[in-house]
Order: sequence, then C-alpha cells, then structure tokens
Amino acid sequence: MTKAETDHSNLTASTSSVLPETVNDFFEVLKNRRSIRRYKSNDIPDSDLQKILQAAQLAPSTNNSQSWRFIVVKDPQTIALLGQPQQQRFIANAKAIIVVLGVKQSSCCPGNLARWHLQDPMIAADHLVLAATALGYGTCWIAAYESRSPDFIQQVKTKLKIPENADIIVFVALGVPDENPSARPRKPLEEIAFDGKYGVPWKPHQT
Ligand SMILES: Cc1cc2nc3c(=O)[nH]c(=O)nc-3n(C[C@H](O)[C@H](O)[C@H](O)COP(=O)(O)O)c2cc1C
Repeated sequence: MTKAETDHSNLTASTSSVLPETVNDFFEVLKNRRSIRRYKSNDIPDSDLQKILQAAQLAPSTNNSQSWRFIVVKDPQTIALLGQPQQQRFIANAKAIIVVLGVKQSSCCPGNLARWHLQDPMIAADHLVLAATALGYGTCWIAAYESRSPDFIQQVKTKLKIPENADIIVFVALGVPDENPSARPRKPLEEIAFDGKYGVPWKPHQT
C-alpha cells in the first residue's frame, strides 16, 4: 500500500480521539514536506482531494468567519493558464491546482477586513498542504501570480468565475512527486526565535 492509499479518515473532525497517536506522524509530515515542482502523470482521486479539502476546512479563522474558498482545478488547459507566463511553467505539469480565495465579509470583522480575509485562507492553505503531504502527494505554494499583470489576474478570475468580493490568495499545485529534493536550509533557531525580548536567542531552560 502506498502512502497515498493509506486510510487517513482520521483527518476529519469526527475522529479527533486518534490525535495522540498521530502526533509523531505529524512531525514527520512537517519534516518530509518539500516544495515539489515535478509531478508524475498519476491522477489524484477525488476521495483524496476530499480529505485534503476537509483538512483545510478544520483551520481556525477570525471569529470563525471561514472566509476561505477553494476552487479545485483539474482541467489541464486551465492548469496551463494558471502557469503562465514565464517561470511557473512547472504548474502545467501538476495534476490539480487548488486556488485558495479569501472572501471579504463585512459582517465578520469590520475595520480589519483586509487583514483577516488574507490571513485565514493562508492558514487553511497550510492545512491542505500538510494533509496532502500526509497522503503522499507533493505540493507547491504559488504566489508568483502577484507579480504578474492585473490582466492575468482578471483573466483567471473570469475563467474561474471568481466574484468581485473574493481575492486570490495562493495557488497550491498538487501531484504525485516525481522528484525528491533535499530539505532547503532554514535559519538557525536562535536567529529567529527569542527569549522574552527581541534579539535574545531562545534556548530551552529545562532539560
Ligand atoms: C506564500 C508562498 C509563496 C510561494 N510562491 C512560490 C511560487 O510562486 N513559485 C514557486 O516555485 N515556489 C513558491 N513558494 C515555495 C517556496 O519557494 C518554498 O517554500 C521555499 O523555497 C522553501 O522550500 P520548501 O518548501 O521545499 O521547504 C512559495 C511559498 C510560500 C509559502
């Protein structure tokens, strides 16, 4: 049985009792995740996409506003469109792209709207990336569309029928990995984590 065939029904909220047994797996998922930019030709079963979306659905959000929306794109021509123009052509090779949107909901969080409708979908996107990793899929966040022309964004919005009150937050490319890249380096913890005050390197005091 491949990882992708493993039963991961414990990703749903109804079986939270399995959580203690899955903690070690969770850290393995974190350690094993890489941005994957080459994918095999295998399709992704909808049952797995369902689990991945359910994992995103479990994310926390401001005032539980759940302002995220997800468009699962499997049509190769549309996937190719999302990869235009230069640099992100690997997207065309993905078997699915999940377009993560943030919907502005004025009833949720007046004043902070701009911030929350961007933050909450990012959390949900990370849930779906980690769930996909747990199932054995490769993923890549793609935010490079931001540097493209407004025309490109409008083209995508029109093609996907994205309403005016929704912003594209990120594309997540998905597929069975066809590469096994080494872990990319991370800054040392003492450079990024502080103990009580900014600049005082964090170190654990208890042994
Ligand atoms: C918000 C965000 C946007 C990203 N956008 C792109 C992108 O447009 N194209 C791309 O190839 N990778 C993109 N990445 C992937 C990063 O390059 C990658 O996460 C980083 O280099 C660390 O490598 P790793 O994910 O393998 O640990 C993005 C990642 C994040 C979190």
